[in-house]
Amino acid sequence: MIEIHHEVAGFRARLDRARASGARVGLVPTMGALHDGHLSLVAEAKARARFVAATIFVNPTQFGPGEDLARYPRDLDRDVALLARVGCDAVLAPPVEQIYPPGERTRVSVGELGDTLCGPHRPGHFEGVATVVTKLFAIAGEHTAVFGRKDYQQLAIIRRLAIDLLLPVTVVGAPTVRDPDGLAMSSRNAYLSPEDRCRALSLSAGLRAAHALFVAGERRASALREAAAGPVRRAATSVDYVDVAEPDTLRVHDDDAVVGARALIAIAARVGATRLIDNVVAGEEGSP
Ligand code: PAJ
Repeated sequence: MIEIHHEVAGFRARLDRARASGARVGLVPTMGALHDGHLSLVAEAKARARFVAATIFVNPTQFGPGEDLARYPRDLDRDVALLARVGCDAVLAPPVEQIYPPGERTRVSVGELGDTLCGPHRPGHFEGVATVVTKLFAIAGEHTAVFGRKDYQQLAIIRRLAIDLLLPVTVVGAPTVRDPDGLAMSSRNAYLSPEDRCRALSLSAGLRAAHALFVAGERRASALREAAAGPVRRAATSVDYVDVAEPDTLRVHDDDAVVGARALIAIAARVGATRLIDNVVAGEEGSP
């Protein structure tokens, strides 16, 4: 039976008990509205840990003014049923005051990994993510945490913060789960009308085109970028960025650069009012 915790103290005590009984603890942080992408992270955690917990918390500090905090999809009963089905042992679904106690002031700043790609388009976002993830890591104690490569920059920032803050957490990245037509699964896909959903396919189509060029031997950043950008420019309502970047530092390549053995190709674009992101690391992953 899956256990549901609304209080941090009880959840923390449960994970301590699991460790005391000799289990490795796995953690899958989420904001709910779960889909197969999230559930694949639970499967990955179960392969690495005997006791697996998920958190469901729509973190207010990572939403900017005018973003979708108020209308973010929430359905705890459905989410818990899905987690139970894939063998998750416990869930933490706390009210905001449990995570942000009255009078709270502290934030975790992320440095230059937050300055590229999505950073300039979402001021404060990664600081909010880093702050809540640090809190969740502190609650969960020594464990293995699993995050999706779909949010590549978030994963890079979280890997860095676990090292920099000396947290006893092993951070694991898991592959992006896609619908059969290529669209990367996302809780925000629920906002898309059927027509928008077709236009949203331009992100994965652009990544596939750029990936195919890379596989054929193309190493000019400008050519990879243009291949990825073409379908997105034609179909999206607006484009935040289509960038080719170094996969470890996230430094964006200038157009006259030549990429190395691996290249991060990342896209953020709006379809209707919905902001979508997707990426591939060419030289490391298969085609999106
Ligand atoms: P959320 O968007 O709910 O995503 C939770 C986790 O699921 C993240 O690690 C994300 O990368 C992963 N994920 C989302 N879509 C995926 C897909 N199609 N394939 C594989 N993994 C996927 O990311 C957040 O929540 C929040 O920022 C959080 C880390 C919980 C902090 O609030």
